[in-house]
Amino acid sequence: MTIATSPSRRTFLTLTAGAGLAGVAHAADTPTLPARPDMPAQELAANENYWAKIAAQYSVTPAIHNIENGYWGIMAAPVMNAYRAHTDKVNRENTYYARGAYNQDIEKIYARLAIFLGVAPDELLLTRGASEAMQILIGGYKKLKPGDAVLYADLDYSAMKSAMQWLADRRGVEVIKIDLPEPATRDNVIDAYARAFEAHPNLKMALVTHVNNLTGLIHPVREITALAKSHDIDVILDSAHAIGQIDFDLSALDVDFVGFNLHKWIGAPIGCGLVYIKKPRVPDIDRFMNEPGAEDDIRARAHTGTLNFAAHLTIPDALDFHEAIGIDAKEARLRYLRNLWVGEARANRDVQILTPDDPTMVAAMTSFRYRNRITTEENNAIMRELAEKHGLFTVRRTGPSTGDCIRVTPALYNTPDDMARLAPALGALT
Ligand SMILES: Cc1ncc(COP(=O)(O)O)c(C=O)c1O
Repeated sequence: MTIATSPSRRTFLTLTAGAGLAGVAHAADTPTLPARPDMPAQELAANENYWAKIAAQYSVTPAIHNIENGYWGIMAAPVMNAYRAHTDKVNRENTYYARGAYNQDIEKIYARLAIFLGVAPDELLLTRGASEAMQILIGGYKKLKPGDAVLYADLDYSAMKSAMQWLADRRGVEVIKIDLPEPATRDNVIDAYARAFEAHPNLKMALVTHVNNLTGLIHPVREITALAKSHDIDVILDSAHAIGQIDFDLSALDVDFVGFNLHKWIGAPIGCGLVYIKKPRVPDIDRFMNEPGAEDDIRARAHTGTLNFAAHLTIPDALDFHEAIGIDAKEARLRYLRNLWVGEARANRDVQILTPDDPTMVAAMTSFRYRNRITTEENNAIMRELAEKHGLFTVRRTGPSTGDCIRVTPALYNTPDDMARLAPALGALT
């Protein structure tokens, strides 16, 4: 599908597609990206003409209305085409490429990511995903000694909670778990951390999630980090769901250790994650199993082995697509789609919406539960009924201390019609 763009925009997109990776041919049928209309993001959020053109960049199964886009993001057509081309090149050139030009190409990708995040390239380490990134940080954090304490919350990601619990055996520390309030507000979430930090003077490190995967809540990271710093507590931030979904300035968060994922909201191929460590803090993370390199070399913090080179090579293509839309427009559109179903569902007295409407605390993702239906079985049944009777694919989540729930996550290809189906379906559920 070809969509008209302004000459300047077209030049920009042509120049930046697959930036700088010589020798990669892009498939001839790559659709041209539509130009972003010149209007504020909030107004653009409801411009169906523009979003229909963006939606046309995604090839999506017609089998179901998929409103569960939190696992990973479908690649847009230009990204998918670039990934095919990179895969083809890596396969054709084999070790001649991997032992040669790849080493320069990957440095260009680090440089691009560093500009994107406003950090230095030697503060970044590519991984296969956010789990690997976070495990490097949590498992490798070496400032703990027996008698110290670490903290996590019920709304953190399950694999990260396990990693925090593992520190009890690995480092001999006390592991403190807090439950975050429901309904959450900016103040009561900050207060939950403040009380825990006050109550446990032996706390040295806290896991904090930026946008959690259970309710989609955007956590007030800057305030929590400032509080933690005032108690000499290091924060390890799980930003898997924040990058590409919400607009934030990493330097303003003032956090020294962050794990990211690029295959959710940035839309890179599966297998792309990222560690950020503020340069002077690199020595506070163990080098990986005696990996060689300087003491402050972040690349010595992982040994991934043979990589899916093509996935990492496609990161600039995913960033091109992401930046052509703009994070402000993306976040506003996702929240607009979210508000369409939540607005109606709140009128149903049997449905409890777990994520606040405060735009600083929510974007795409929101969870709900039927009052008093808190078990896994009950929520699996709701998820099944939504899929089988109403053609809506959602996901059950286990983890909040208050019980299981169902998460709804629109993506850029979803339409207002997809979202409008949910509230009536919730009204008709048995
Ligand atoms: C909050 C959070 N952290 C970490 C992860 C793990 O990401 P990955 O699949 O890239 O390992 C996820 C995945 O859903 C997540 O939601």
